[in-house]
Amino acid sequence: MIVASGGSRDWAAYYTKTGARPPRPNLLFALDRFEAETSDTPRLAVDLGAGGGRDVIEMLRRGWRVMAIDGEAAAAEALRARSDLPVGASFETKTARFEDADWPGCDLVNSSFALPLCTPDQFPLVWQKITYSLNSGGRFAGQFYGERDSWAGREGMTFHTQHEVEALLLGLEIEFFEEEEDDSKTPRGEAKHWHVFHVVAQLRLG
Ligand SMILES: C[S@@+](CC[C@H](N)C(=O)[O-])C[C@H]1O[C@@H](n2cnc3c(N)ncnc32)[C@H](O)[C@@H]1O
Repeated sequence: MIVASGGSRDWAAYYTKTGARPPRPNLLFALDRFEAETSDTPRLAVDLGAGGGRDVIEMLRRGWRVMAIDGEAAAAEALRARSDLPVGASFETKTARFEDADWPGCDLVNSSFALPLCTPDQFPLVWQKITYSLNSGGRFAGQFYGERDSWAGREGMTFHTQHEVEALLLGLEIEFFEEEEDDSKTPRGEAKHWHVFHVVAQLRLG
C-alpha cells in the first residue's frame, strides 16, 4: 500500500504504481456472486475513490457498466489513459468528492481503500448515500480501517471498531468479512500497521 497523504502529485504517483495491480479479492468475491445470479441487462457499478482503475478494469472486463468517481482529476486521466481498457467498455468518470457526488441507483458500490479518507462528520451521510443507492439485491464491496491501524486518529480520516462496522452493515447481509492486521512498509519506506476490515454485503432482495 502506498501512502498518499496529500496533494495531487502524491495520488498521480500512486495511480502509476498501483494501477496495474490486480483487483481486490473482496471485489472478485462480489463479482462472482453476481455472476451466479441471473440478469437480463448489464449491471451498473459505482466505484467511489476509483483511483487509477485497478478494480474498474476488472468490472469492465466482465461486462459491467461503471461510474468511476474520484476527488482527483488525475484518477480519471489515469483510467482513461489505460491501455487495457476493454474495447467497447461502458464507463463514465466523475471528478468529485464522494461527500458531494450524486450517483444513480446501482447494483454494486465498490470502494477500495477509499472510504476511510472521509471525515468522521461526513461519513454517516456518505454511508447513507451508499446504502440508499443500492438496488434490491445490490452489494457493497470495500474496506473500513480499524482502530488499531497506525493511521488511527489522523485528521480527516474515519476509523471503526469491528462492532461499529457490524452496526453499519445492519440491514445488509454480510457475505464476506475479513479482518486484516499486519505490519509492512509502504513503498515510501514508512512502517505501517494495517488494521483493515474487508467487506462484501448485500441488500436483501425485497
Ligand atoms: C488509496 S486510493 C485507492 C484507489 C483505488 N480504489 C484502489 O484500490 O487502487 C484512494 C482514492 O480515493 C480518492 N479519494 C480520497 N478521498 C476522497 C473523497 N473524499 N472523495 C472522492 N475520492 C476520494 C483518492 O483520490 C484516491 O484515488
